[in-house]
Amino acid sequence: MRGADRPVAAPARLRPAGVDAMDWPALQAAVAGCEACGLCRSRQNTVFGVGDRQADWMVIGEAPGENEDLQGEPFVGVAGQLLDNMLRAIGRSRSGSGAQATYIANVLKCRPPANRNPLPEEVAQCEPYLARQVALVQPKIILAMGRFAVQSLLQTSEPIGKLRGQVHRYQGVPVIVTYHPAYLLRTPSDKAKAWADLCLALETAAASSDRSTAP
Ligand code: URA
Repeated sequence: MRGADRPVAAPARLRPAGVDAMDWPALQAAVAGCEACGLCRSRQNTVFGVGDRQADWMVIGEAPGENEDLQGEPFVGVAGQLLDNMLRAIGRSRSGSGAQATYIANVLKCRPPANRNPLPEEVAQCEPYLARQVALVQPKIILAMGRFAVQSLLQTSEPIGKLRGQVHRYQGVPVIVTYHPAYLLRTPSDKAKAWADLCLALETAAASSDRSTAP
């Protein structure tokens, strides 16, 4: 086979071994240096996560957009403002501690170019980082926002509309499925459904706290 026709060997870009045993500093450093998929070539910053690492609530979104890529923090654009308002409505915030604490992360730690949808191989490469974040935070409840978060956590291709209103599990943690804030900005008529999802999350978190404090 001549030069130009020869298949280009795929570069050996692998995740660091041992992600499942990493502590926070090691995990954050692994993400910052990750070259496991092509998104590392176009990113400005990796977007690791924000909030209290001992939070009992965890919010999981899709992937960084332009603002998040520039600032290195999840949900800082207009969708982030709506997320902050939603959290405020249930007494939580990204900077809160104790009963207000919330940890926010995305399925992908790097921005897909032009905000295109994440590719399955990108999700597969990045998923162990999120899995380790969940294992370290050990939240009482996970709010999964949008199709990519939901489908990746629950390993399903069912649409959000079919998965809402039930309590799912990821690593044994209750997962409540809801719409992505960017979708809600485009479809404000579904905000009432998102409010119902937040109420289900509140009830589910309260029930799991009652169980863990029962004599
Ligand atoms: N959308 C997401 O899912 N995550 C972000 O961090 C920003 C927008």
